[in-house]
Amino acid sequence: MAILDKHKIIETNATLLLIFSFLVVTIGGIVQIAPLFWLENTIEKVEGMRPYTPLELAGREIYVREGCYVCHSQMIRPMRDEVERYGHYSLAAESMYDHPFQWGSKRTGPDLARVGGRYSNEWHVDHLRNPQSVVPESVMPKYGFLERRSIDGRYIEDVMTTHSVVGVPYSEEMLENAQADFLAQGDPDSDYDGLLERYGEDSVTVSNFDGQPGLSEADALIAYLQMLGTLVDFSTFTPDASR
Ligand code: HEC
Repeated sequence: MAILDKHKIIETNATLLLIFSFLVVTIGGIVQIAPLFWLENTIEKVEGMRPYTPLELAGREIYVREGCYVCHSQMIRPMRDEVERYGHYSLAAESMYDHPFQWGSKRTGPDLARVGGRYSNEWHVDHLRNPQSVVPESVMPKYGFLERRSIDGRYIEDVMTTHSVVGVPYSEEMLENAQADFLAQGDPDSDYDGLLERYGEDSVTVSNFDGQPGLSEADALIAYLQMLGTLVDFSTFTPDASR
């Protein structure tokens, strides 16, 4: 009883209640926030992650420019229905090179975090040109104009430099070869050894993505879509339980 009586003093005195509430929130805040200043990294390192290749990065810029994120999220939640539909739930590390990230919460269309490799390049070309030709009930707009807009990677080094300012570890060599790597990834007849060496032999796909001569915005966008969610090998991945 006595303790309740004392509590009554706080409850009936607004100033006192305010002071104690403030104290509680402050302590709670410090406990939650302060450790973050001493942790070196809040993202668990995961094998396989690498920065986007120049062509993929250009595709990502187009994705953002066209507002694909308005209808598509890129984060698979760790819920059973999501994991069964889309695959392994998304890891924080999988978007560590995304500036800005594309997680999203609005899904008019499906989540795209692991769409890479799910369809052929030809499917993507048809789907972008006319989504209703492959999914009759689709409400996705047509993006056929992308294959008519040619690109040459003239500015891609600047885009990569900007990303390196915010922490994406592009090396000097990657920056120097930005445009060459950009062009090489879209042309299987080119000399793309340097590109594979810089970004990883197993994780980079060189292809004429849109099936037409020359590089178009559709090439870049499909290069990006086809690598989404493919970098981490989940057959060997085990979460680090110490965190
Ligand atoms: C108005 C909403 C809307 C916008 C904007 C939109 N989409 Fe879609 N998207 C959908 C819907 C709905 C589907 C499911 C039906 C279908 O496959 O067309 C879909 C499906 C997809 C799929 C197939 C996913 C799967 O797992 O089957 C891809 C890939 C895709 N969209 C890419 C894009 C890209 C790239 C852009 C931007 C250039 C974009 N979408 C813009 C609504 C949208």
